[in-house]
Amino acid sequence: TDTNAGGIPQPVSTTCMACHGMTGISPGGSMFPDLAGQWAPYLVKQLNNFRSHTRADPMAKAIMWGMAASLTPAQVQQVANYFSTQTPPKAKMVNAKLAAEGKKIYEGGISNLHVPACMACHGPTGLGDPPYFPRLAGQRRAYVELQLHYFKKGLRTNDPYAIMRYVASRLTGPQITELATYVRSL
Ligand code: HEM
Ligand code: HEM
Repeated sequence: TDTNAGGIPQPVSTTCMACHGMTGISPGGSMFPDLAGQWAPYLVKQLNNFRSHTRADPMAKAIMWGMAASLTPAQVQQVANYFSTQTPPKAKMVNAKLAAEGKKIYEGGISNLHVPACMACHGPTGLGDPPYFPRLAGQRRAYVELQLHYFKKGLRTNDPYAIMRYVASRLTGPQITELATYVRSL
């Protein structure tokens, strides 16, 4: 598959970089996720879910269906490998009070609502666990918030066993903000 002189896959340098950055750190709009350091099997799954329209939340439909459709299967693997090996986003300074509230849920869940701790699947420091559990550490706050609202409303339905729909449906809007703030700080 084509790469340019710097070893950057051709779709990345012509297309993806506009929203996800040349090294997978999004340049602007905060609903664009950072892809750098994300696990390759998770990226492949998401791109295939966009291609098959099984990830059908509004931003997926509006933007990523078209982007993913333009890739060959070989390019899906190539861009996933490329982004997964870039330097992950760095921990950011965030509102400490919100982050502290988010940390409680992230590490302890909400026992009376049977919400499991996020860290059980996404790891104590948000590094995730391949092939299924994505990295969350350093991910953009607005993107994480948007995805949790999509899961909560049943608009994103590509999560195995509906686990994220179960978890997010038991979170309030303010708790979603706290969690998204916390993972940005990891
Ligand atoms: C989401 C890859 C081009 C905007 C994603 C995700 C992947 C991806 C893997 C899911 C990330 C995750 O679940 O954490 C790519 C690739 C591209 C590309 C390989 C080039 C072929 C673009 C472009 C834009 C864009 C050009 C902006 C015009 C978005 C947005 C989301 C997203 C808004 C979130 C979708 C949602 O909320 O469901 N992209 N992307 N992407 N990408 Fe791209
Ligand atoms: C995906 C957050 C608990 C399993 C995600 C995503 C977010 C998230 C933001 C989307 C990532 C992206 O688009 O890049 C959280 C939070 C949790 C939590 C804040 C606690 C409140 C859990 C638990 C499990 C789990 C307990 C396992 C039992 C998964 C899986 C995915 C995912 C499998 C990927 C879904 C897919 O393939 O599209 N989580 N999570 N999460 N989470 Fe969680």
